[in-house]
Amino acid sequence: MRSLRFLLAEYKANLGWFGIGMTALIIGALLQTVAPLYIKLAVDAASPEGFAVNEGLASRLALSLLPMQLERSERFVVTCLGMVALIAVLIGIATFYKRYYLIRISRRTEYSLRKRMYARLQDMPGKWFDHTRSGGVMSLMTSDIEAVRQMIGPAIMYMGGTIFMFPAALAIMLSLNWKLTLLSLIPMLGLGAATLWFNPRVKRYSLRSQEDLEQLSARAQENFAGARVVKAFSREEFEIAEMQRLGDTYLANKLGQARNQALYHGSILGFSGLGVLIILYFGATEIGAGRSTVGDMAAFLLYNLALYWPMIALGWVTMLFVRAAASLKRIDAMMNVPVDASRVPQGDVPASLRGELELQNVSVRYSDHGPPALDGVSFRVAPGRTLGIVGPVGSGKSTIANLLLRMVDASNGRVLVDGKPIGEYNTHALRSFFGYVPQDSFLFSDTIASNIGLALPADDPGREAAIRAAVKAAEFESEVLSLPHGYDTMLGERGVNLSGGQKQRAAIARALAAKPAVLVFDDCLSAVDTDTEERILRNLKAETRDVSTVIIAQRISTVQHADEIIVLDDGKVIERGTDAELRARDGLYAALARRQELAAALA
Ligand SMILES: Nc1ncnc2c1ncn2[C@@H]1O[C@H](COP(=O)(O)OP(=O)(O)OP(=O)(O)O)[C@@H](O)[C@H]1O
Ligand SMILES: [Mg+2]
Repeated sequence: MRSLRFLLAEYKANLGWFGIGMTALIIGALLQTVAPLYIKLAVDAASPEGFAVNEGLASRLALSLLPMQLERSERFVVTCLGMVALIAVLIGIATFYKRYYLIRISRRTEYSLRKRMYARLQDMPGKWFDHTRSGGVMSLMTSDIEAVRQMIGPAIMYMGGTIFMFPAALAIMLSLNWKLTLLSLIPMLGLGAATLWFNPRVKRYSLRSQEDLEQLSARAQENFAGARVVKAFSREEFEIAEMQRLGDTYLANKLGQARNQALYHGSILGFSGLGVLIILYFGATEIGAGRSTVGDMAAFLLYNLALYWPMIALGWVTMLFVRAAASLKRIDAMMNVPVDASRVPQGDVPASLRGELELQNVSVRYSDHGPPALDGVSFRVAPGRTLGIVGPVGSGKSTIANLLLRMVDASNGRVLVDGKPIGEYNTHALRSFFGYVPQDSFLFSDTIASNIGLALPADDPGREAAIRAAVKAAEFESEVLSLPHGYDTMLGERGVNLSGGQKQRAAIARALAAKPAVLVFDDCLSAVDTDTEERILRNLKAETRDVSTVIIAQRISTVQHADEIIVLDDGKVIERGTDAELRARDGLYAALARRQELAAALA
């Protein structure tokens, strides 16, 4: 497991902290087991029977740490109690170091794990995002990381406490009175059985409710993202009912968890009480027989109390481990997805690009079954020339854009840029020469200026001028200036406070701002009226004279001035030529042109 190795490396990197935390943990656990011994000594010194019985090894060791001899005096009692107070202070200090350093490692690991996973998300191939819900990614980045953190922080801490405290306490008890020790362990067996019975149930409910919670948040996230669609289709009641259904199962599982936990804790109290009864009854018998002292009984009562909590913690800790294992598995699955080719720093980094684009008999398959999205497509765009692509929905137009930006790779045939196979370039470097306007014109919830200057370095002195020029060329300037804060206007999530046509022009300006060598427009003038479209195209012609351009469109008016136009249908090029040639051919293009011009005339 890759992530497990990562966690071990984190421990190794923070070995110093781990050492401090663990030392404090061991010291604290040992001190906690020693404290009842001084209470025993104090009680014995104050009781009439006194130290009638043979003292065990543990008591003798405890005595040897005192600055005075064993005696029946008030001074001795006060000294013992002073020792108890001192131990309490030391435990306090040890607890601070234990918690601070062990939790610190877990927080550090959480920090680097999140950083690593986020960086990895940037490396994911486009395909991965096609079938991964953002709610799932969100829970990977939040609850799964948290589960791992709880394992390496709190779980290790509580488990460590139990591991060191239990044997130490047991050894001391045995040295005080082995018979009483064995008797008082009987309820512990019951506790063990209760743990074995209840823990898997609590675990099961807890894991289930965690899954429910993920579904709940994914659902909520999607609902808010699609709030407009929900409203437009009057789906509010349905969404509320759906949320309630998810909430119901979550509640049922949480209640199941609470019920089992309540029963478990109740039984713990019962067994602990049984322990007290056993200690009192058999302790009294032992005292009567002269084999034990009142002080021993006091110490046993304290140990009985002190040992139950680590037992409970152990149950909780195993649950944390199970949960973290499930989370680590999911994190690993994500980390094992092959890195997107563009993120591998390899291939040629061109200093400049002429912008010659060529497809040679290219086919693309998104999946192994079904027809290919592109089937034997060829074309060549000379530097500075414009290619128009039209075709019905689903005919493969966006797939050509994806190919040129290397979002997908050809299954067959070759894609050449400046005469060289696209795979030989460093994709990252190659993309920096491309200006791309995606079909959905996605914008970030940031200012207009930041959105349009996305590809420009923040310290570029010409940044502002470039943004303005691009906005002007995209025929977007007057609208930007009429916005309340102009270029500094914040956009809502995904640019919701802009109209469809405004979003498209913002996306066009974003592609133009970095002065690319190749422009790829994927159906990005569909929401713009024909007059504005004409002005934008005229601006483009004037300003991007040497820029190779691929314009994908539904409307003939968008592509009619292109140097060459290809018509796609079902992934194949069925017609090609200039506007005049295609109209003369009287095929699909001519039919589309006639229909659209008629519609325009009627409107
Ligand atoms: N990421 C993807 N995974 C699987 N199949 C895809 C993917 N993207 C597109 N396809 C399929 O490939 C075919 C071509 O899609 P493409 O997006 O290129 O069409 P298009 O011409 O751009 O359509 P539109 O005009 O609707 O934008 C379609 O059948 C589509 O279902
Ligand atoms: Mg498309």
